[in-house]
Amino acid sequence: RSRLDDFCTEDDVLKKLQSAKKILVITGAGISTSLGIPDFRSSRGFYSRLSNLGLSDPQEVFDLDIFRSDPSIFYSIAHMILPPDNVYAPLHKFIRLLQDKGKLLRNYTQNIDNLEANAGIDPEKMIQCHGSFAFATCVTCGYKVKGSTLYPQIRAKEIPFCPLCVEQRNKLLDQDAYVEESYGVMKPDITFFGEALPLLFHDNINQDLRDCDLIISIGTSLKVAPVADIVDKVRGSVPQILINKDPIHHCNFDVSMLGYCDDVVSYLCDKLGGSWNIDHPSYESL
Ligand code: OAD
Ligand code: ZN
Repeated sequence: RSRLDDFCTEDDVLKKLQSAKKILVITGAGISTSLGIPDFRSSRGFYSRLSNLGLSDPQEVFDLDIFRSDPSIFYSIAHMILPPDNVYAPLHKFIRLLQDKGKLLRNYTQNIDNLEANAGIDPEKMIQCHGSFAFATCVTCGYKVKGSTLYPQIRAKEIPFCPLCVEQRNKLLDQDAYVEESYGVMKPDITFFGEALPLLFHDNINQDLRDCDLIISIGTSLKVAPVADIVDKVRGSVPQILINKDPIHHCNFDVSMLGYCDDVVSYLCDKLGGSWNIDHPSYESL
């Protein structure tokens, strides 16, 4: 996809925000960093903190095969990524504002912090592309529980087991029989490398790509497929805006607004004026 010739300035962005009716917003970990939640790949991001786990690549904490062979690796760090209660950032408020103005087609979030829900994004307007902690599933029998029932064990860095399988697991262990490490282990329904994305993603993305009239990618390095591929698949006439701390060179954005995303959207809201208000001081007034 080549860039649009007639969409390249800040004014174009402001006009399009006013006229757009079906905005597809793609978000990643960068929209929550202002709350002290680390992103993944920045120099001080989550992956930089995992050097003591003995993994050849820190992304392996979310690798399905590795989880199956040793679930204790994931459960030694899972407490660090549990969703926080009651907080959200100005950027989440901006997405909520787009929703309130009837402009939000859908927010495709890669985040598992669930802060979109805290900000009041309608569940129908949001797709958690990499799943969430809302539910957890037994890797052996598929039994599901509410994710929050596992939080005490996750906080204690213990491995949670399935109530239906744990007895059999202990019996096999007592008999010195072979038991897979992950037999009867509960896994939160967050999408690991090697797993398919939630059905909701596949059910909606093609129609949303046909319907959207603007794409805004915010706080994501766009390094993980298939979310990273969304921006390549949209029709050429749909403007694409990037709001991110670091530039992204492997995608063709029409306008890249580089900076802290809370500040960039506050700046845009100030320029738009009126009901475009997210109660966050804009870059200029900081
Ligand atoms: P990354 O850590 O790869 O990228 C975060 C991006 O946000 C970087 O480009 C930063 O420059 C930018 N950023 C950080 N703070 C920012 C701020 N305040 N304002 C604007 N931009 C900021 O995170 P994701 O792209 O979300 O998967 O990573 C995608 C997936 O990779 C995650 O969902 C996760 C991970 O493996 C799973 O957990 C399954
Ligand atoms: Zn089970």
